[in-house]
Amino acid sequence: MKRSKTSKKWMNEHIEDHYVHEAQRLGYRSRAAFKLLEANDKYQLIKPHISVVDLGSAPGSWSEVLSKSLAKEGKIIALDLLDMAPIANVDFIQGDFREDSVLLELETKLANQPLDLVISDMAPNISGIKAKDQSGIIHLNELALDFARKWLKPNGHFFVKSFIGAQFDDFVKEVRLDFKKVLTFKPKSSRDRSSEVFVLGQYKLDN
Ligand SMILES: C[S@@+](CC[C@H](N)C(=O)[O-])C[C@H]1O[C@@H](n2cnc3c(N)ncnc32)[C@H](O)[C@@H]1O
Repeated sequence: MKRSKTSKKWMNEHIEDHYVHEAQRLGYRSRAAFKLLEANDKYQLIKPHISVVDLGSAPGSWSEVLSKSLAKEGKIIALDLLDMAPIANVDFIQGDFREDSVLLELETKLANQPLDLVISDMAPNISGIKAKDQSGIIHLNELALDFARKWLKPNGHFFVKSFIGAQFDDFVKEVRLDFKKVLTFKPKSSRDRSSEVFVLGQYKLDN
């Protein structure tokens, strides 16, 4: 039987509640944790001893996943516009990634050591004006890609949140220029009604 709109909505809300409860039960700051956990189960992004930058990290559930997985045996730098309560083994920078001074602060912390993984969950505050929101996230995506290009080791991985819409396909094409394998991923924990999708660039090419 075809599901009515109301029962679909009920099912989606129910699934959302499930992730909120699971986040509380497992001690994560937000349900966003499951997006990274699902991607990691499928694509094994987090490996022992890696160096990672987490862009758009607040309130911090991705950083918590990294911190739990790597303990002290890796390097985790997180960055967000908003403040983030401390997480063990995570070095946090508060600032706007679009600003040169903030990028410089991040690059200084890297101390010439290249990265194994760059993840970005950055998203602009949704205004409801589709064209504005879309260009906002694509701009953040481009900046994250520039950063990943510059700092990832050969064979490093890039995982970034985007929205399906204008310029999305062009962005994916751009990622293809620097990574051996590129795919899009919609985690089960990502809301159905959201145009959110993740792009994964695997195995950075040694261009
Ligand atoms: C969906 S939330 C990230 C959730 C996070 N991954 C977690 O697991 O807790 C998106 C974040 O991107 C941040 N953000 C948006 N634009 C940014 C920018 N220009 N520079 C730094 N952070 C930004 C927001 O402040 C927000 O905290």
